Amino acid sequence: MAIIIKDLIEVFSNEQLQGRITKLAQEISKDYKDQRVVAICILKGAMYFFTDLTKQIQIKELIVDCMKVSSYGSDIKSSGTIKFELDNSVDIKDQHVLIIEDIIDTGRTMAALSQHFYQKGAKTVEICALIDKKECREKAIEVKYKGFDLSKGFIVGYGLDFDDKYRNLDTIYEAVIEES
Ligand code: IMP
Ligand code: MG
Repeated sequence: MAIIIKDLIEVFSNEQLQGRITKLAQEISKDYKDQRVVAICILKGAMYFFTDLTKQIQIKELIVDCMKVSSYGSDIKSSGTIKFELDNSVDIKDQHVLIIEDIIDTGRTMAALSQHFYQKGAKTVEICALIDKKECREKAIEVKYKGFDLSKGFIVGYGLDFDDKYRNLDTIYEAVIEES
């Protein structure tokens, strides 16, 4: 089935995104004040969110790292299989890990990643997601730091893609889809 994006409707302006990100950075800075944290960017979707957020976090020691996983391919639904395409490189044994993700949908990616970091010996693992989309949630996961709730829809921009397109837009849009 071919999926065509017919239109883009603004959902979160860049101003709204930046305002919320500043608040999240303040919350994270307060909670981890005297700690060392390994913040892991989940590529590629979280890259813009990650850079804007981590620049504003003020704690004792912040280590940045990244990891690449994928579950969507060229579709607007999760394939159900999570591919680990690139692992992180910092040793996270006994570390506080903060996973930074663009959007949570079924919750499978975050459930798998939390388990992955605990297996590597992390002391704590918390999730920070810009968008929490509950429509298709399958795994109960706790999102400690959340930007916005979204009840439904497929969104693009500010890192979020359809078939690797639209990531560079500085606003988040709902994609109006036509399937043929
Ligand atoms: P989950 O494992 O189903 O929670 O999948 C989460 C991943 O699916 C996110 O990291 C995104 O890459 C992708 N995703 C989920 N919803 C959307 C969306 O509305 N737009 C773009 N990507 C999405
Ligand atoms: Mg992602």
